Amino acid sequence: MRLTDCHNFHDFRRLAQRRLPGPIFNYIDGGADDEQTLRRNSAAFGDVDLVPGILRGVTDVDLSVTTMGQKLDLPVYLSPTALQRLFHHQGERATAAAAEKFGTMFGVSSLGTVSMEELARKHRTPQCYQFYFHKDRGLNRAMMQKAKESGIKVMMLTVDSITGGNRERDLRTGFSIPFRLTLGGMAQFAMKPMWGLNYLTHEKFSLPQLDAHIDMQGDSLTIGRYFTEMLDPSMTWDDVALMVRDWGGEFCLKGVMSTEDARRAAEIGCTGIVLSNHGGRQLDGSRTGFDQLDEIVQAVGDRLDVMMDGGVQRGTHVLKALSLGAKAVGLGRFYLYALAAAGQAGVERALTQMKAELLRDMRLMGARSVADLGRDNLRFR
Ligand code: LAC
Repeated sequence: MRLTDCHNFHDFRRLAQRRLPGPIFNYIDGGADDEQTLRRNSAAFGDVDLVPGILRGVTDVDLSVTTMGQKLDLPVYLSPTALQRLFHHQGERATAAAAEKFGTMFGVSSLGTVSMEELARKHRTPQCYQFYFHKDRGLNRAMMQKAKESGIKVMMLTVDSITGGNRERDLRTGFSIPFRLTLGGMAQFAMKPMWGLNYLTHEKFSLPQLDAHIDMQGDSLTIGRYFTEMLDPSMTWDDVALMVRDWGGEFCLKGVMSTEDARRAAEIGCTGIVLSNHGGRQLDGSRTGFDQLDEIVQAVGDRLDVMMDGGVQRGTHVLKALSLGAKAVGLGRFYLYALAAAGQAGVERALTQMKAELLRDMRLMGARSVADLGRDNLRFR
């Protein structure tokens, strides 16, 4: 199987599975507990049908949107995700370059493997910084400061991970940072020599957002344990209100799921929220961002930008979310599998396909721009 054999999300996922050592593939692929929410994220889009319009003259289609003060050429952005260097040696550099080519936003994670400064310096496309609120307040201050100095415009604070989700695949494989593998896991690495060679012959793995503050040479931690031990479960609305004030720009909460919390976010001055269950990786049994979208847009859509992520695999998924009022839609695994499959070329191919699907689907819907989409062109089953 080659890159040219990849025509959709599932193909990229399969190719990623062939390329990656099992523990790494399963880290990306897996969710919490029984993975019900992981499955529901994509299934939710199937509970809503599109009602197309016809004969509207759709030769030219404009896919651009504005969210968090940023004009994007596509209504999808590349959500911040951790540890990309492990998936492909180009890591975040590939993701950022591909996002720039398509004129859209990418996120850099607190657990990113390339520094936010380098990416901000190299790329003109909008970048958001994904912030994990650590127990170490010095680290929090330093990350805030660095994001400001780098000229990053959008701050995105993740609020659904104050303790680690129960990711049983990681427990089984021993996936952790730095690596410490079970015997089974070790055998998996031996079975993917190409990945091993690339990993060893390129720049050393590091976590530049954290390195000055956290000693990564110590105990090796699963990501679940990292959240539990390093992140601060005492975080409250007051802490976030202070951060919003300190940041003084576009500030977005990622992981909002209730209307009450969405209202609260608007009250403390957040300019955006992402409805998200962290790709089904945290609270299993949680409702999906898509399921909550209608209710939350109706409640606060005029006060802040509502975005969503989770389970998006198709152009039609994106159109359904836009029809309910999402300002933009985040992609996670969608581009991570492509990154693992072929680095920047993989991400670009996945985005090329997403863009082609969006253009085709907009035409088939009779929509010339995102403004033409609305609740009227949807029916709930
Ligand atoms: C995850 C984190 C790191 O593994 O965002 O879900």
